[in-house]
Amino acid sequence: MNASKASEIKNWRREQNGSVGFVPTMGALHEGHAELLRRARKENDRVVLSIFVNPTQFNDPKDLEKYPRTLDSDLSLARREGVDLVWTPSRDELYHDSVGGGAATGVFNFRVCEEKLSSRFCGAFRPGHFIGVLTVVMKLLQVVKPARAYFGEKDYQQLLLVKQMAAAFFLEVEIIPVPTVRESDGLAMSSRNVRLTAEERKQAAFLVRALRESNTAAEAAVRLGEAGFRVDYVEDFEGRRLAAAWLGEVRLIDNVKI
Ligand code: PAF
Repeated sequence: MNASKASEIKNWRREQNGSVGFVPTMGALHEGHAELLRRARKENDRVVLSIFVNPTQFNDPKDLEKYPRTLDSDLSLARREGVDLVWTPSRDELYHDSVGGGAATGVFNFRVCEEKLSSRFCGAFRPGHFIGVLTVVMKLLQVVKPARAYFGEKDYQQLLLVKQMAAAFFLEVEIIPVPTVRESDGLAMSSRNVRLTAEERKQAAFLVRALRESNTAAEAAVRLGEAGFRVDYVEDFEGRRLAAAWLGEVRLIDNVKI
């Protein structure tokens, strides 16, 4: 079943007796999302997928405009993975509390704001990004009310922040981390990879190698710079090496255990 209105999702939810697993996405689904759906399928009676390109988490309007949108193939993937309900909310419905086109302009009345981790790493380069992420995830969780919600480890800072938010607000949901799915050359799967040129795509696999094969974060940053990446950051944090770096117009993020 597909639905766009929050009221339809809430009605459906009230009728479910068993557990609900939830996979929130911005669409342009790939094998990484399929893996989240498979985990959700295995561990719950029902699976809900949301597809919403959330405008408030894009600090760059060009990035929002260019974000891939592939609804038809997303719906086929959802069918293939046995999703019970696909929610495709509209901006106006999700940000109904905003006035004057709020979500589209980044002005929205109620927001979830974390004061520490969200200003580091990706947050230092994408001001407001995690306010947009946490706010939309809070809204989605409030409507779907899942027992479990699934997030990829590729967006490691996002995963930590969502976990912390769930704990801080006593949300009755278990946030489940799912390991990063990689292409055969090691590149982490991402909806943005389709925007890489053929040449950049070949280079992109070096990101994870530099993270794994360097002795320090600083060494990895230098090696990436030498290989033609524009590095935003490489830093070690709580047993992980986190990085964001650009190839042409595409910003890649990745992380590995250290
Ligand atoms: O990881 C994503 O795709 C997005 O940040 C999320 C969690 C769906 C919120 O828009």
